[in-house]
Amino acid sequence: LLGGEPLPRKNSHGIELTDPLDAEPLLEAVSNMRGKQFKGGPIIKGVMGETDEPVLNPATGDVVGYTANADKHQIDTAYQAASEAQVAWDRLGGEARGKILDRVADLYEEHMNDLTALVCLEAGRTLNDGISEVREAVDFCRYYGNGARLHFGEPRDLPGPTGESNQLYLTGRGVFVAISPWNFPLAIFTGQVVAALAAGNAVLAKPAEQTPLIAARAVELMHEAGVPKEVLHLITGTGAAVGAPLIEDPRLAGVAFTGSTETARLINKQLADKEGPITPLIAETGGQNVMIVDSTALPEQVVDDVIQSAFLSAGQRCSALRILCVQDVIADNLLNMLKGACEELSLGDPSKLSTDIGPVIDEKALGLLEKHRERMANEAKPLFAFDEGKKPSNGTFFGPQVVEIEDFSLLKREVFGPFLHVVRFKAGELEDTIRRINATGYGLTFGLHSRIEGRAHAVFKRVNVGNCYVNRDMVGAVVGVNPFGGQGLSGTGPKAGGPHYLFRFAEEKTKTINT
Ligand code: NAD
Ligand code: ALA
Repeated sequence: LLGGEPLPRKNSHGIELTDPLDAEPLLEAVSNMRGKQFKGGPIIKGVMGETDEPVLNPATGDVVGYTANADKHQIDTAYQAASEAQVAWDRLGGEARGKILDRVADLYEEHMNDLTALVCLEAGRTLNDGISEVREAVDFCRYYGNGARLHFGEPRDLPGPTGESNQLYLTGRGVFVAISPWNFPLAIFTGQVVAALAAGNAVLAKPAEQTPLIAARAVELMHEAGVPKEVLHLITGTGAAVGAPLIEDPRLAGVAFTGSTETARLINKQLADKEGPITPLIAETGGQNVMIVDSTALPEQVVDDVIQSAFLSAGQRCSALRILCVQDVIADNLLNMLKGACEELSLGDPSKLSTDIGPVIDEKALGLLEKHRERMANEAKPLFAFDEGKKPSNGTFFGPQVVEIEDFSLLKREVFGPFLHVVRFKAGELEDTIRRINATGYGLTFGLHSRIEGRAHAVFKRVNVGNCYVNRDMVGAVVGVNPFGGQGLSGTGPKAGGPHYLFRFAEEKTKTINT
């Protein structure tokens, strides 16, 4: 059953911001939606509950809408409806579910301007980031829709002795809880939900508390596309408020989680302590991602790729570059060029086409970054610090920083923002550098810049990461092209946007008949 993607599919084309005909409707959508207030409360059986908790635009501090913690009664009602409706959804079959997920993709594309604008206003994503986010969400729908057709239709006949027929069936597991982070408030939210749906599960979707508005809009579009309202519910709220009733419910059949390693551990422990069946957890978590640049690399390309990898999305990507290891003989020249490129970066309103870096998500994230900057002021050598005078006066902005450290064992945890750490290494220390990367225990993304033939393959074999990028940037995995996900502290697999993802959402049943 494991295999590629033989069914035809096109990736979403998105919006071309350099073409005024494409860009203008998007800018208009942003300006029409600015100042409006949206609702992102619990959606149980298609009905949105009361909302009273403000959701803030991180770029301005303005209220963009209201949300609420789902209460125990709403969660219970959602579980009840979902468990009853799941059987019919599963029996509908992969072909019919695939069609509905294609329709979700079509609706997302029809609403691309509004969705991008909302992602920008609620999560502070730049327009470019917002567009790639909607595109990725569309691609997840079509990719997993094809997976549903391919694997959840007819059973697979298996060889057996004469007089015996053997067939392998895939079915949904029951009610899945999908818990997503704020940093890809549409793409990851959608990816988890549509994967679980494609495999024949009902879903209780819990978005991050910072980004419930875009999640609510996504659920409305999924319902409009034909996902039954009893099959998909939105459970908004903080982890502290809704986590326990979601995880502890005996009707839970599986959890798809993306977020920090610490939260994944907590959920894993709660699941382990539960009575009843063993509940599977798919966890996609943080990274301590390293790029190695040896003396044969092309400096101009390295600088460009480092800027993209470390600072795109204000460094708020799990895949983002955190530690740049540069061979000492080229380090001074390369770091000088990098400093020049950093000076060109603009920080500010994410809805402006000229902005490179938007805000970080909230005060808490800003506080953690400021604390790290203070610590690095004592323990590291500054290479670049964003001019504080150029920082917008409102909103939660943190300008990009580059520091040099002696050894990356200094960094115990993921620093989630535009903060790059540089380490020099000498010729002959490559092996040791890889050993130290593996010793972090994280294993998400890794980059290598080298023109030495064979080095890429040798390093790839030894470095324990999920996604290894050579002579390019290390962010922006494309659905069906760069299946994405880590190992060790970075996650359990299987890879999102890859051919094996749906299987973890499914039960396998073998039927053997003596004919
Ligand atoms: P987080 O762990 O704080 O929150 C993630 C989600 O878990 C949110 O919806 C949150 O409300 C929920 N949650 C928190 N406590 C919970 C609990 N006790 N029970 C149930 N749910 C709970 O992470 P975040 O700050 O939202 O996201 C950033 C993190 O996500 C970073 O570490 C980043 O690396 C990681 N991330 C990983 C990937 C990946 O694919 N590997 C992708 C994006 C983000
Ligand atoms: N899939 C996202 C990326 O590759 C996290 O940047």
